Amino acid sequence: MNPRAKNLIMKDRSRPTLVRTMFARISSHYDTLNRIMTFGRDKSWRHFLVNIACIPKGGHVLDVGTGTGDIAFEVLRNNKTNRVVGVDFTLEMIDMGHRRPGGRKIAWCRADALQLPFPDNTFDVVTSGFLLRNVTDIGAALKEQIRVVKPGGRVVCLETSPNPYRLIRPFVLFHMKNIIPFLGHLIAGQKKAYQYLPASTLEFMKPEELAALMAEVGLCNVSYKRFMFGTIAAHWGERPI
Ligand SMILES: C[S@@+](CC[C@H](N)C(=O)[O-])C[C@H]1O[C@@H](n2cnc3c(N)ncnc32)[C@H](O)[C@@H]1O
Repeated sequence: MNPRAKNLIMKDRSRPTLVRTMFARISSHYDTLNRIMTFGRDKSWRHFLVNIACIPKGGHVLDVGTGTGDIAFEVLRNNKTNRVVGVDFTLEMIDMGHRRPGGRKIAWCRADALQLPFPDNTFDVVTSGFLLRNVTDIGAALKEQIRVVKPGGRVVCLETSPNPYRLIRPFVLFHMKNIIPFLGHLIAGQKKAYQYLPASTLEFMKPEELAALMAEVGLCNVSYKRFMFGTIAAHWGERPI
């Protein structure tokens, strides 16, 4: 296994509680801050992710670490299916999603990404957005997603990347380390939570490392695309038939 993935497993056993508490605190401001921090670009990345997921008509989709459901709602907008399950272990995030217009069309479920409460081969597609850098074992989270997706189905994910293109790296780091915590403090009153974002991004895997891990844990035809000067990456792969 990639050493960085291994490192992250060992890193902090108390991480799930910290992550849950943090997302509970910022849940009511999460969507607003996302739009501001990404200059509104996050919507187009989610749109790309849902397109690349190749959802069959009427297909059954699972969104892991769904939060307030941005990807789950994008799946509904994609019009190929209205069978979407959103899983997250932070009740407050799910609550916010449930209250959004159309929130009742999504089946919300409180569960851990490392122990999904679904039988093998249940879903046609599994999506996740900004989940993997929060979990204690990235390989195990991916294996769970592979277990519940049907053979031939896609596992797709969106994540922040630690290595933006070299020329703009100083600006990106300044944005992440100063502007984002400042906005988090100003809008949500939660500077610490928004210091966690750059910290967890900088310690996360590079896109090529994540792609290699996805292949290592059992996906085939793995590929990825970078966005926003290399600060974001969408990855996808298929469970072999
Ligand atoms: C940054 S938010 C992303 C939300 C949404 N996917 C999006 O694209 O905006 C990460 C979400 O993952 C959830 N999460 C983190 N670790 C998790 C785990 N082990 N099991 C379930 N949910 C988890 C958090 O509660 C949070 O709602």
